[in-house]
Amino acid sequence: MTGQGQAGPDAAARPGTAKPPEQTVYLNGEFMPLSEARVPVLDRGFVFGDGVYEVVPVYRGVPFRWSQHLSRLARSLAKVRIDNPLDDAGWTGLVAELLSRHPWQDQFVYLQVTRGVARRDHLFPADVQPTVFAMSNEFKPVLRQAIEQGIAAVSLPDERWLHCDIKSISLLGNVLARQAAADAGAMECLLFRDGYLTEGSASNIWVVKDGRLLAPPRDALILEGIRYGLLEELAGSRGVPFDIRRISRDEVMGADELMATSATKEILPITLLDGRAVGDGPGPIYRKLFDAYQDAKVASAAKGWVRP
Ligand SMILES: Cc1ncc(COP(=O)(O)O)c(C=O)c1O
Repeated sequence: MTGQGQAGPDAAARPGTAKPPEQTVYLNGEFMPLSEARVPVLDRGFVFGDGVYEVVPVYRGVPFRWSQHLSRLARSLAKVRIDNPLDDAGWTGLVAELLSRHPWQDQFVYLQVTRGVARRDHLFPADVQPTVFAMSNEFKPVLRQAIEQGIAAVSLPDERWLHCDIKSISLLGNVLARQAAADAGAMECLLFRDGYLTEGSASNIWVVKDGRLLAPPRDALILEGIRYGLLEELAGSRGVPFDIRRISRDEVMGADELMATSATKEILPITLLDGRAVGDGPGPIYRKLFDAYQDAKVASAAKGWVRP
């Protein structure tokens, strides 16, 4: 029997049964098959969730908004006081190599840095090397049905910590919220803290009312998605009035349109909230921003990768 995902000699001998080559990942300076990547159990990522991550969409071989992802990674690392293990050129070289090892035109890259391996103790260990892990997966196009008909969401209390601006690998609050949404038959949730919208379990949430696009403030209660700044730019260039302010639960419930953004969802309309229809299907502002997003992807791929 061959290893998971590996094409052994038997598979190669039978036409049509060959498995695709195994995914290559990066771990602490080396590229290797996914099945061979090993992290010691005392890694603080495993024991404490002590680390940060990034998810970067890549179109036609070009990471989309790469410099913004690099900056956010540096910000997350600084906030949890882990020295950035690589400079911008180092991250760029790593990702370029990882991308070149996979056949897909569109990929999404996952980067993770933990504080490293040490005897279990809450205090930061001295002289420890951060663990650096990276993998890439095929970026399959976002489902047409979700774009054309929208997705369902449910409202939930935001029970997470008060540093949601850090892209931390400690995602238990997000995991529980996402599962609660799935259990209720929805793809995403809208989280509320003290009566105000924060974000989704794995996305930023946007509200449209009377032709204006509204977003919750960039503060420690949300992760500032890379698409947050992008949508701000796209709204500006497409003439959509845009306000950043606290958004009450009543305003969300009475929204004309709702949408979610993330690296892998791109931009999706939310057309059902707590079982009630939102507006009349995907709305005009959604369509405008969706088109602008697609144009931005094409422009980025055409420009090529401007490497730091
Ligand atoms: C909690 C949370 N908020 C917002 C986002 C959107 O961030 P980005 O646009 O960088 O994908 C994500 C993405 O996974 C997320 O997990």
